[in-house]
Formats: sequence, structure tokens, C-alpha cells
Amino acid sequence: MSEVRVEHAEALEGSLRVPGDKSASHRALMISALAEGESTIVGLSPGLDVAATSRIMEQLGALRRDEDNVTSLTGPSGGLHASAEALDCGNSGTTMRLLTGIVSAVPGTHRLVGDASLSTRPMDRVVAPLALMGASIQGQGPRSVAPLLVEGSDTLHGVTYEVPMASAQVKSAILFAALGASGPTTVVERVRTRPTTENMLSRAGVGVVSVEDYEGRSVTLHPGRPRAMAWTIPGDPSQAAFFAVLGCIHPRASLEILDIDNAPERIGFLGVLQRMGATMSVRSTGDILTLVVRSCELRGTEVHAKEIPSVDEVPVLVVAAAAASGVSAFREMGELRLKESNRFDGSLSLAAKLGCHVWSDGDDLFIEGLGDASRFADFALDATLDHRMVMASAVAGCAGAGASIMSADTVSSSYPGFFNDLRTLE
Ligand code: S3P
Repeated sequence: MSEVRVEHAEALEGSLRVPGDKSASHRALMISALAEGESTIVGLSPGLDVAATSRIMEQLGALRRDEDNVTSLTGPSGGLHASAEALDCGNSGTTMRLLTGIVSAVPGTHRLVGDASLSTRPMDRVVAPLALMGASIQGQGPRSVAPLLVEGSDTLHGVTYEVPMASAQVKSAILFAALGASGPTTVVERVRTRPTTENMLSRAGVGVVSVEDYEGRSVTLHPGRPRAMAWTIPGDPSQAAFFAVLGCIHPRASLEILDIDNAPERIGFLGVLQRMGATMSVRSTGDILTLVVRSCELRGTEVHAKEIPSVDEVPVLVVAAAAASGVSAFREMGELRLKESNRFDGSLSLAAKLGCHVWSDGDDLFIEGLGDASRFADFALDATLDHRMVMASAVAGCAGAGASIMSADTVSSSYPGFFNDLRTLE
């Protein structure tokens, strides 16, 4: 396991473009593989998670070609077919959950496997709605963890399903299976999660109607085959969040982060930082944002999971809370326990290592900030198989007194160039 040492940086300045959005990259590959003919993708995420999705789409029959930063993917005219080999989703929950939906509608036997982290993550949340559609999926134990055995079928039927937790992955698995069902499917969500799947399927010509009201959102999809498209992937807001927090808490920083996706479900962390007193300017051109962030004094705040559905940005916001004055509360954060690692315990332990008084109550976690990142302790942390714990720790170390991060190579799941990009700002 690799260890990376991050030292405190004297000053940080510069402009950077984070990698293409991971969520949109997975979907662009999947929708292109499902379509007939050649699609092109510009700005694909370079991470291993997205590479796993790409490899699997090829196993299922798609043809990939790369030329001058453009990826071309051609879906087979007769549709995807089962592979004799296991479909290895690596560390990627998005790959496994969305793929379960896709292959449920592809006749044949499919075996889905993942790494040690993914093999502990609950898949029952996708198995239950897909079974209602007529899918046959066998997982391990009460939470249906991987390996999964899916018996694909072309006789799925449409359903109406309310997703019991805030999860774009569950919504998306159902919508992908619904493409091949015999009638329309409606997915209801009480907390609006990222609309990447429904928006991209709609752009690819699939009949999708999304209705929003104060109770949430319902998405109705009519079965059909997406058409080949030219996709351009925007920058990943969840990766931008690491640099946004770094720019705020580092004592001498001025950072510009270019071309980030502007979806409201993805940029809740900006509202949190603004409430904490961040010195930040946000420029938007259509669907794309540019952020400029400068060193500032932060104060504690209360964050509710609804503000940051999917809670991906919580570990780094906990680092912001550790540098703020006063107590921050993060409420209803149970989903953090089910990510690539237990980020609930991991975030508390990171803030404790920095020197903060931390505590939890049920699904709420509390951090008493030190008032200034210069008070952070030098620390060591094992990120196990969790890329976001690597990056949150690196932000704390760079702004504070340094950090030794074990298992740092797992950063490649989503952002292989993270440490290089960090160095270009010093
Ligand atoms: C994702 C959804 C989120 C998020 C993950 C990517 C997606 O997971 O944590 O990084 O692309 O749909 P949940 O659906 O479990 O919230």
C-alpha cells in the first residue's frame, strides 16, 4: 500500500480544471453502449472507476476507440450481450449498481464482482426494486453484497417505486432496467438526487418526464433505445469541493477552479461554505461554473444531508469545520457509513487527529473547530480503499501541519492526477 507525505504549503495560487464528472462519465459510456452506432465522449473522467465501466461495456459488446482526447464508443446493433467473464466493477459502487439495472434486461447470466470495499456495500437497495420489475438477482447475505449473479431477461415490466433512501444510484439502476421493460416506469424520490441519468437519457431521445414539487421529484421513463450522441463532460463538482475547502482554510491561498457542472444537487457544498463565511466568487455561464476562492476565517454551521444528497463532500466539509470557529453539526449522515469506507467514523477520526473535540449522536456528527488550520496537528491516516478520505486528508495536511496518508494510491479511483494538481498550486 502506498504512503504519501503531504507537507504544509507556504502559499497556494493558481487556476485548475478538475477531471470530468465521474457520474456523467459512467452514464455517457453506458448510454453510448446501449445506443446503436457511434457516440463520442470528450472529457471522460480518467479514474479507475470509469475505466471499469468502460471495460465492462466492451465485454458486453461495445467497441471503444480513442483518438486526440476523444473517446468513441459504438453500441452493437443487436444490443448488448452477456459476457462469459465476470464483470469486474473494482472499487466503483456506481458501476455495480447501474450495471445491475442494465444487465437485468440483457438475456443471459452475468456475474458482477468488486474489490474488498465494494464487496461489503449493500446491493439490496437495487436488488429489491429490480426484483419488483421481474429481475432475478442473487447476492450474498441479507444485504445482497457482491458477487452478484444476475439472470438477465427481456420480459421485465414497468413499476412505480419510491426510493427509500436518497440515492441517485438506485434511481439510475431502475431507469436503466426500465429502458428494456414492457411498460413505463416511475421512480419517486423524496430527496432530489443528481438528475444525471434522466437528463442524459432524455437528451439521447428516450421519453423521460420529470416532475418536481415540494415533496420531491418523480421521473417517468418510457422504454426505448437511446440514440448515439456527442457527449461533452463538465468538470466534477465533488472534486472541485476539495480545492474550494483548501482555498478557504489555507492561510495564503487564491485559487480558481474552472468549468464545473452547475447542477443544484451537486453544488450544495458551496452554500455550506458561504454560510461559514467563505470569501468566494461564483461565475456561471449556463450549466458551467467557475469558482474563485481565497483564504478566509470560517465559522461553524449546521449541515443537513438534504443539502448535499449523496454526502460525497462531507469528509472535506468536516475538514472545513475543523478549521472554523465554533461547533459544526452534520445531521442525518447515516449514508456516510455505506460509502467506499465508513466515512461517518472516518470523518470523525480525521477531525480528532487534527486536534478537534468531536462526538456523535445517532446519525449526527459534531466537530468543535480549532478556529484556524494553522492549529491542525500533523497526522497519519490510513484511507483504506476510499479515494475521498485520501483527498480530504491531503487538504487538511496541506493547509495545516502536514499529513502522512497510507493507501494513498486509492485516489486513482476518481482522480489519478490529484497530487500533481495540488503541487501545481504551490
Ligand atoms: C453517484 C451517486 C452517489 C455518490 C456517488 C456517485 C452517482 O451515491 O455517492 O459518488 O453517480 O449516481 P448514492 O446514489 O449512493 O448517493
